[in-house]
Formats: sequence, C-alpha cells, structure tokens
Amino acid sequence: MRNRLKNWLGHGKYAATLLATTIALSSCNSGNSKKSVTEWQSYSGDPQIENKVDSLLLLMSLEEKIGQMNQYSANFAATGEVVDNQSGAYLKKGMIGSTFNAFGAEKVRMLQEQNLKYSRLKIPMLFAADVIHGLETTFPIPLAEACSWDLDLMQKTARAAAEEATASGIAWNFAPMVDMSADPRWGRVMEGAGEDVYLGSLVARARVKGFQGIQDYRDLSKSNTLIATAKHFVGYGAAQGGRDYHTTNISEHKLHETYFPPFQAAVEEGVGSFMTSFNDLNGVPATGNKYLFKDILRDQFGFNGLVVTDYTAIMELIPHGYAKDLKHAAQLSLDAGIDMDMISEAFVTHLKALVEEGSISMAQIDVAVARILEMKFLLGLFEDPYRYCDAEREQQVVMKEEYQHLALEAAQSSIVLLKNDDNVLPLKPEKAKRVALIGPFVQERKSLNGEWAIKGDRNKSVTLEEGLMQKYAGSKVKFTYAKGTDLPLIDRKTQKVTTQKPSSKGFAEAIRTAKNSDVVLVAMGENYHWSGEAASRSDITLPGNQRELLKALKKTGKPIILVLFNGRPLDLSWEAENVDAIVEAWYPGLKSGHALANIIAGDYNPSAKLVMSFPRNVGQVPVFYNQKNTGRPFNDQAPADYRSNYIDVENTPLFTFGHGLSYTQFEYSNLKLNKSSFSKGGKIELSVEVKNTGNYDGEEIVQLYIHDKVASVTRPVKELKGFEKIFLKKGESKTVQFTIDESTIAFVGLDLQKTVEPGDFELWVAKSAADESLKADFQYL
Ligand code: NOJ
Repeated sequence: MRNRLKNWLGHGKYAATLLATTIALSSCNSGNSKKSVTEWQSYSGDPQIENKVDSLLLLMSLEEKIGQMNQYSANFAATGEVVDNQSGAYLKKGMIGSTFNAFGAEKVRMLQEQNLKYSRLKIPMLFAADVIHGLETTFPIPLAEACSWDLDLMQKTARAAAEEATASGIAWNFAPMVDMSADPRWGRVMEGAGEDVYLGSLVARARVKGFQGIQDYRDLSKSNTLIATAKHFVGYGAAQGGRDYHTTNISEHKLHETYFPPFQAAVEEGVGSFMTSFNDLNGVPATGNKYLFKDILRDQFGFNGLVVTDYTAIMELIPHGYAKDLKHAAQLSLDAGIDMDMISEAFVTHLKALVEEGSISMAQIDVAVARILEMKFLLGLFEDPYRYCDAEREQQVVMKEEYQHLALEAAQSSIVLLKNDDNVLPLKPEKAKRVALIGPFVQERKSLNGEWAIKGDRNKSVTLEEGLMQKYAGSKVKFTYAKGTDLPLIDRKTQKVTTQKPSSKGFAEAIRTAKNSDVVLVAMGENYHWSGEAASRSDITLPGNQRELLKALKKTGKPIILVLFNGRPLDLSWEAENVDAIVEAWYPGLKSGHALANIIAGDYNPSAKLVMSFPRNVGQVPVFYNQKNTGRPFNDQAPADYRSNYIDVENTPLFTFGHGLSYTQFEYSNLKLNKSSFSKGGKIELSVEVKNTGNYDGEEIVQLYIHDKVASVTRPVKELKGFEKIFLKKGESKTVQFTIDESTIAFVGLDLQKTVEPGDFELWVAKSAADESLKADFQYL
C-alpha cells in the first residue's frame, strides 16, 4: 500500500499533506480494507489512475464516500429553486464532493480551502457550472449558433467558453444540452441544436470537443481542460404540450432513432459526464431509470464517465409517484446507476442506512465514488486543487480580445434572414435616408445575451441602436427613434406574465415617426426570461401588443424591416405576410448590435439557415421537415378530402428547416452521380455546381437530403444526410461533392439495430428542406 500511494501521490505540496494523512490512515483503517470495486470500469482505461482511485477508496470511510456523491449549489447564480439544505454542516464533515454555481478564481479558491480544511483525506472538491454559451464573453444562444451550421465555429466558441471557465475555477461544465426537440413551446429549445438528429449529433460532437479541449480523452490534465456534460438523458425535449418538466412517452424505436444519437455521439467524443433529465419517460422517471443508465448508457454506449442528476431530481421521484420517500428515491436512483446527487441530499442522508440494512451494496457506492474520484485525478486536482483558480490567468483570459472577435463572428453567422422582399435590405443611403427605429428591442440591452448567460454582464452587450449609430456615423442615413410599446415581463416567482397587455400609448408617436421616414426598422421579440428553463409558452406569437403595433405601422404604407430577438421559433404568420423583411437575430450575445448593424448595412452577408421549423400557428406544433408520409398524404394534386391535413391551415411550416436567405443568389446545377446504384461496401459519388449569380460575395449551406421509398420501418419523406458551407465570391462557381454509402442509408430497424435494406431512394441537393429543384434517384442493390 505504502508504495502504491507513493506512486500516485507525486511530489506536490498538497500531495505531501495527503501522503502523510493517508499513510497514517492506511495503518489504522479497519472497516473498508477489502478492495470492493471489482465492477468498476474506468473512463480513462488508465491502470495507473485506476490504481490511484482504488487506493484512495480503501482509505475512505462509508461517510466519506457518500460525501463524494453529494453536490450543492453555491448560488452565485441561482439555476433552480433555492432549497434549504445542510451544506454548511456537511462541509464541516468534509462531505461535499462537488459544488456548482461558484465561479471566480478567488472565490473558488476560498471554497476549496474550506473544503480541504475539513476533508480528512484532503479530497478536492469539483467545481461545476452551466457555461452554456460563454462564461463572460457571451456568444449567441446555442440554437442560434447551430443555425450557422458551422461546426468549427461552434467548437471554437465552446473552447473559448471553457478557457474562460477553467481560468475562473470551473473544471466541470453542465453543457452541452443535446436534447432533440421540435416543439417551440418548450423554452429550452434555445439551448439545443434544433429538430434534426443528423445535424444535432454533429453539433453535439463539436461542442463536446470544444468544451473538453482534448485530443485524447485520457488526458484531462491541462489546466484549461474541463469535463463536459451531455444532458439531459433523455427525452426531456418531448415534454407533453411543450410544458417544461412534463411527462414524455417515446417509443423505444424513436428513442434509438432520434433521441439517443446525439448522446451516443457525445460518448464517442469522450464526454466526461452525463446529466439525468427531469421527465418521466414511458412511466419511469429518468433519474430512477435503470434501462436508460445501465442498459443503454453503460452497456450499449459503453459510457464509463460520471452521471449526475439534474437539480433536485432524486427528490422529485416522490411527486412523480415513483418513490414513497427520499430514502426510497435514493435507493432507486443509485440502483439506476446514478453517481452524484445534485441538491436533493438524498444520498448523503440515506445511503449509509441503506448499506447498513443491506438494501444497497458497498460495491454500488464504491463504483459511483470511483467514477467521481477518477475525474478528480484526471483533472489533476489531487496534484493541485487550486489549478483552476489562477487569478492572473483569469485576468488574462476572460473577455480577451480574440474572444470579442469570435463573439462578433459567431453572432453574424447565427442571424437568419427569413424574408427580404424587393431587397429592402441591406439598408443603403441610395434606398433610404430617413429610417424610423421602432420597438422595444431598439434600445434593449439586458435581453441580448439570452437565458443561461451565466456571468455575461448584461450591461455590456451592444444594443441594436448603438450598433447602428456606430455603423452609420457620418453617413447620409438618419435614424429617428420611438419605442412604441414595452415588452411584457414575467414574474419569476409566480412564473406568470405580469403585463399581458402593455399600454398602447406609445403607438401614436411610433406612427408619426414611421410616417416621416423612408423605411421603418422595427425591433421586437421576447424578454430573455421568456425562453430557457421553466419558460414554456402556449401562444408563440410576439408577446403583448407588438403585433398590434406592427399592424398600425403597416397602415403607414412604409416598407417594414422586422428584426426579431427570441429564444424559440415564433408564430410569425401575420408578420411574414405583411412586413417586407424579417431578420431572425435570436439572442446574439455580447456583440449583438455590431453583428446586426453589419448585416443591416450589408457589410456582412447573412448566411445562417434555420435548424428548427417555424410553424404557421401553434396548433401545427410539432411541425418538422422529416415527418412521415402517412397513408393519406396530402398534396395539391390529389383531392383534398379524407387526407392528412388541416382544414384551416397548410401542412407545411411557415419557414422550414434549412431556410435562410442571402443578399446574393446561388444557382445550383449539374447534379451528377457517378453511378445510379451501389451495393454492400460500395458508394456513389455525387457532385453539384453552385454558382453565386448575385451581387454580393456570400456563403451558402448546401444540403443533401435522401428519401428511402420503401423500408421495413417507414422512413421520413426526407432526411438530412450531409451539408457543406461554402464561400463564393460574386460570379464564382464551386463544385460540391457528397458521398452516399451504407452509412447514409442506414436506419434503426425493428430490432433496434442499425440496418440497410436494398431498394429505391431519392435524393435532393437543396437550399432548404423545401427545395426540390435538383433531384436524382439511386438504388441500393
Ligand atoms: C437545472 C437544469 O435543468 C440543468 O440543465 C442545469 O444544469 C442545472 N439546473 C444546474 O444549474
């Protein structure tokens, strides 16, 4: 034992203290002297690390082990209901394994010092946080950024976020959220990557790679690496009615086809941890769901990292009606394979008794603790518990110049031009000299970061007005402002809208201002609290009386450009018909105003495309491009009677997946397949020519969709299977190539395994999911 300890403890100052303590302890340790972690499979696969973990486990008392499984919020930022707890008492017993929502090098150092003072074995605490789209440098919300379809960019912003986080005390990130959802009523779509599983899985990979910042996942040892978390496992985005935390019913086939793949992709990229989801899935809440965490996550995906619950999720097994009390809940979630309890104090309160009475085994505890300790070893926290608390590094890294540029680039690349009739945009002095700036988002600053902007200073984000003033300074374009109306807000305590109908007193001034202009630029949207967690909506039109104001402005007959700030697809049916241009800005973050001004002035040519469909009304929800055909498909040619359609609205979304305009035009031609069929082990190469025929240089996202016409499990009418984002100067052409092989046509069979079947396929190389102009057929023999 002595030698083994010497091997892993190293030579650092903390190691020396620990060495002394552990050697002393090892000689008098009685109760747990048998190695009992036989079932434990390490994440790193590194025998040295395994040895360290096993050695330490031998020295730990049952209470100390259970303490490692206990996590609290430091509440520097509240990310859930503040629950009365015993954190102080457990700290003094050295029984807190991890804390989240604490950040700042000095503050985290202080907390770590406290912990080490009380931890008998000097086991460092692991500090976590929700660094969803930047720590202090706030990037666009994840849904927006996914609209860039730029995986490198997403990896870079995730890396920048992680660099800032790791310099501020954080070694564990509760991101990325890789939940699939096609329901814009659910406020958390803002944190995801939209409705498509192919794209969603690639985005998951990019974000995990960016956050963790490692080539080889055995090596988390650099002080700028952290553990990412794939969350929330699983099905959270399918909440009934789009109401947050609500029940989900998802067939096993659908889980394998749509909900699991982004999580599996995260595992393949070496993600270090998983978080449970809040929902009841097919009758068993995820946090107590053995099938999910044992059969699927551990056995099928081969995940050996750490699983943490979501906030109070063990406790919630009681109201779910799955556990009779907290003790029962603790047992159920440990049995399900959960390692760490966030907030519930279920493990720390009840596991000891459960072991003593034989309801759970010591081996179960050891396995969970081993996974936690392994991460601490891999992150180098035993070598130096303060390695993420370097105030000097924090000073240099946080908000550094390079990230400011990246924030602008990310914001520009995420903004989607949904409509632009008569090229009303870009706004040039030749076209419009007097611009009326109207709406509650012209000067709005606080909402621009969107939800989950953990430490992003809401007073620092650049407003639309500031961006425009700077951009057009000295130009012939003059702006006049009238707010027109206010944004309705919600009371965070009651979670209800406080002002359903803001006053229309400002309408008159807005109308006057519009009348005295050549063009009206209206900035509207949702206050940032209207999306994110616990922010579901049943009506997804523009809140309050914003549409009424638009209607009044429409009567002036002036061209209207609508710039929107929101965290979900909205019902824009009236707006799409009545305004001239729509710019979907989402929440662009720190550089909002500059990014938008560049787009409005034509200095940046919009390139983003939607990753989530915009419905025509809320009754269509969920509406998504990769739907099934049904036995009675509706189309314009067939008689409409007894077809799968609505009598009061079309089947198609208002703006479909993959849609997004540019200031230039791209012409696709010359679709060529090198053959029309392939068989096992073979492939088809296809190419298409894309030409920029307009007047601006620009980027285009070229998309490949396929349709498997007949299969043993019916296939969607269209499935995204590839894309490429290319830059073309005006007049320039490029050939874009795609390969079709078995991985392109594979699908989840009835046996839940990936399968390929011979048959006929169609493919489209397209500008969006609705574009069918370039089509070819092929066969798999
Ligand atoms: C609850 C959220 O669902 C989860 O995503 C987040 O990581 C935790 N709170 C911690 O803030």
